[in-house]
Amino acid sequence: MARYLVTGGCGFIGSHLIERLLSAGHEVRVLDDLSTGKRENLPASVPVTVGDVADAAAVEAAMAGSDGDGVDGCFHLAAVASVDRSREAWLETHHANLSGTIAVFDAARRANAKGPVPVVYASSAAVYGDNPAMPLSEDAATRPLSAYGADKLGCELHARVADIVHGVPTTGFRFFNVYGPRQDPKSPYSGVISIFAGRIARGEPITINGDGQQVRDFIFVKDLVRYLTAAMDTPRSGAPVFNVCTGRPTTVNRLAEVLGELSGRPLDRRYGPARPGDIRVSIGDPSRLIAAFGMSCDTALEDGLRETLAWL
Ligand code: NAD
Ligand code: UD1
Repeated sequence: MARYLVTGGCGFIGSHLIERLLSAGHEVRVLDDLSTGKRENLPASVPVTVGDVADAAAVEAAMAGSDGDGVDGCFHLAAVASVDRSREAWLETHHANLSGTIAVFDAARRANAKGPVPVVYASSAAVYGDNPAMPLSEDAATRPLSAYGADKLGCELHARVADIVHGVPTTGFRFFNVYGPRQDPKSPYSGVISIFAGRIARGEPITINGDGQQVRDFIFVKDLVRYLTAAMDTPRSGAPVFNVCTGRPTTVNRLAEVLGELSGRPLDRRYGPARPGDIRVSIGDPSRLIAAFGMSCDTALEDGLRETLAWL
């Protein structure tokens, strides 16, 4: 049994990670500012400190815990997880997304009397920007097109510093498009699957941006969290970064059709203008992930969508 801090633990991905950690018998504590996360995403028994991950003192205190015993590792998921929001509030999102990550790496140096503890953190496929080299391998050039992507790339660079200069083992994961239960369908910054699923379930029309032929690589959240725990179990040196993706392409049009079929409701599909700066094709190469962890993201899209719809 180990003791972990999960930043952003009240959010969509964090709550699934914590479900997995608790079922494996681990002890978990959370630092979250509840800006998008919800306390009720977690069992009442999980201690939650409401605070800002960019506040170094708050991160130190959360790692130390009320008993001062420290943690065995930190899963760092707290971020403003929205490209649009990073356009509207550049500096504010930078504090959470990059300064917050440095605060976590810095505190991890002193998180335990035995020395630095490992950090497993969320990066994003947004680091690739509009690189057209599909499928995208981790060696593909990074050329972010958003403050969000630039800050996630910054996290990866500081993760190298954490490892090489400060002896903090780090593992970064470039998540592609994650979906599943508890992704807020009402937030305008939510992912396309939760927006479509929520609207279809309420009998409302969906809006496809542009011609709907844009392609994404959708990963089911329960597949994703297995990599996070595996990375914590076996920290690697050299600050590695892995794609988390399926390598399987799905167009937005196809996604709408499948959701319509699974929900058993008539699909009221409308087409609106293309989203400015929308990436046309985003497909990851999962080879390095599979080689390192010996498992792939195997939940079929239909099965993951069924579970998502059942949650609504
Ligand atoms: P989410 O918004 O549900 O979770 C983020 C959590 O962080 C929330 O609970 C929020 O309240 C908290 N938070 C935000 N700013 C904070 C701050 N300054 N201090 C403390 N807590 C703060 O989003 P998610 O989809 O669960 O994202 C989790 C991580 O995965 C993020 O780092 C995100 O950038 C990354 N990611 C997500 C996707 C995706 O498709 N969902 C894709 C790539 C990367
Ligand atoms: C997503 C993530 C981002 C991550 C990036 C990695 C979300 C909200 N964003 O951005 O955090 O860094 O992947 O590459 O998960 N669409 C519609 N109608 C809608 C909503 C969306 O047609 O109502 C379209 C969009 O125009 C886009 C596609 O669906 O073409 C996917 O959009 P979205 O879910 O917002 O994700 P990304 O932009 O890929």
